[in-house]
Amino acid sequence: TNNPGIASLAEKSIVGPYEDLATIMAFAKEYGCEFAVIGPEDPLNLGIVDALGAAGIPAVGPRKKLARLETSKSFTRDMVRKYGIPGNPRYETFTSIDGIEAFLEELPGVVVKPDGLTGGKGVKVQGDHFQTRREAFEYCREVLQEHPAVVIEEKLEGEEFSLQCISDGKTVVATPPVQDHKRRFVGDKGPNTGGMGSYSDRDHSLPFMRPEDVKAGLEITRKVAEATYRETGDYYKGVMYGGFIITRDGVRLVEYNARFGDPEAMNILPLLKTDFIEICRAVVNGTLDRLPVEFEKKATVCKYIVPKAYGLPKDHPDAKSTSAKIDVGDVGSARLYYSSVDRKADGLYMTTSRAIGVVGIAASLDEAEKIAESAISAVKGPVDHRPDIGTRALIQRRIDHMKKIRG
Ligand code: GLY
Repeated sequence: TNNPGIASLAEKSIVGPYEDLATIMAFAKEYGCEFAVIGPEDPLNLGIVDALGAAGIPAVGPRKKLARLETSKSFTRDMVRKYGIPGNPRYETFTSIDGIEAFLEELPGVVVKPDGLTGGKGVKVQGDHFQTRREAFEYCREVLQEHPAVVIEEKLEGEEFSLQCISDGKTVVATPPVQDHKRRFVGDKGPNTGGMGSYSDRDHSLPFMRPEDVKAGLEITRKVAEATYRETGDYYKGVMYGGFIITRDGVRLVEYNARFGDPEAMNILPLLKTDFIEICRAVVNGTLDRLPVEFEKKATVCKYIVPKAYGLPKDHPDAKSTSAKIDVGDVGSARLYYSSVDRKADGLYMTTSRAIGVVGIAASLDEAEKIAESAISAVKGPVDHRPDIGTRALIQRRIDHMKKIRG
């Protein structure tokens, strides 16, 4: 990216193993870190920020007990309920199967969430992952064998958006909203993935949103930051990524992540005009209220290049075609963010996961989408992607869906 802060952080980063705090601490000390920025949720959950803090290194990332915003669905739902913050659907938390059947009967549609980290694979939705209440009950029973609790929620109908906010615990700043595409195949078909691509628009809204929807997401997040402080006595310093859904009755909270989204970070960070290092300093010093955080007014479309087998169930006939060589040709003005790839002596190899995030940035979504597509066609090998992400046709479907929902 052109942002000097992000470029310098990219040079000085460490990737896993997250369970090995000693290695991470040695790395931090070797660099004489002024502060650390923690990317994924696993080290947050292990208490890396607490360990760094004990060694005198502040972090952009919440301490373990605050990372519960992501790692414990019941912590967040209960806090939102306790402090009267709008945004919760109907929900209950269960630590045993007692009462689950009766509660399932009360809900028109059901979402089941394990209370704990599951690598994004644990949430199951009626109509997508199971059909009947009996299946929901069986899944709850399964979850309770591995997790201390299960959260059962009413299924909400609407369009989702991600609002990645930056917080120093007292001030919360929104970045432009983004829409992710979790399903593996064109037309939102197939299994859920970590995210196949995402887009953001020039006006820092999304074509199906009203201005008050962004405000509602930010307002909920500000109240959650305040409640988190009142609940724990600690300021939440880091990213509060709110997943929201716009329903007939307004904006509802789906969940929080305690980090930037993948791929959603690739939409908003390249637009950041303010030096990211200055933002990090403001977060750790608690002075975010004094720093104007600005983004370019441009549209972005990000599409992930993945191995053909990515996301397929193990028994699928194509599930074996993974680790393969790819060649990257002329990608024009697109930005490429390399993810699960290995550089070997004879070239670049994909692994089993998402390989390269390809981002088009332009004055309009149409242009940004074309820049991304053209770059993807310059990547040769057994790769796949979702050509529909960011296209006018798919965005129109979102607009029509939202119109129908709002009545
Ligand atoms: N793309 C969703 C996530 O980062 O969790």
